[in-house]
Amino acid sequence: MKIKILTLFPSMFAPLHESILGRAEKKGLLDIEAIDIRAYTTDKHLKCDDVPFGGGAGMVMTPQPIVDAVESVDPERKLRRIYLSPRGRTLTAEVARQLSREDGLLLLCGHYEGVDQRAIDLTMDEELSIGDYVLTGGELAAMVVVDAVARFVPGVLSEGSAEEESFSAGLLEYPQYTRPQEFRGLRVPDVLLSGHHANIEKWRAAQSAALTQARRPDLLKD
Ligand code: ADE
Repeated sequence: MKIKILTLFPSMFAPLHESILGRAEKKGLLDIEAIDIRAYTTDKHLKCDDVPFGGGAGMVMTPQPIVDAVESVDPERKLRRIYLSPRGRTLTAEVARQLSREDGLLLLCGHYEGVDQRAIDLTMDEELSIGDYVLTGGELAAMVVVDAVARFVPGVLSEGSAEEESFSAGLLEYPQYTRPQEFRGLRVPDVLLSGHHANIEKWRAAQSAALTQARRPDLLKD
């Protein structure tokens, strides 16, 4: 899956080339590129922001570099174009799964007080928020979206991992344990050492149900 990220801070995206996503990139499953919006400005001082019409605090990103960057990076409108913004629909596991089925994504990161509305209206398909809080820019939100989506791209995780875990069945994940069997006086639950697969599954399902009831009862409604 091709993911193009338009940003004024391309160096912020180094973490996407590490760990599981880095491995997926080497395998050819992901192709993630952060592109500097500033490279597209026609302003001789390389300015990409200006004061808001109507007044108010902060600066607004100007439309020209953004629109030119989008049109240059995705001339045939092949990518799903997403502006990261607290005004957007909220990212969930289901939204991430849907986005993983797109041919590619183009993520636009805003900064300062936001982006001139005309740039959004002219180029974007939708706005996406990662939660009800305001970040200083869209970069961290874009990284969250890339990570959450990439996990659903076939081959990125080991078989079954994305399906088995939290939220795929609408429940929180059961507790996991590894060696040693006893650590600081705390023992791994006996059932997990029993080798009895049916009992292990039953225990895990019960743990998931109890955790969800205790911590996120809202997930059990409907
Ligand atoms: N940019 C600033 N805050 C954001 C949020 N919560 N989600 C997505 N993009 C953002």
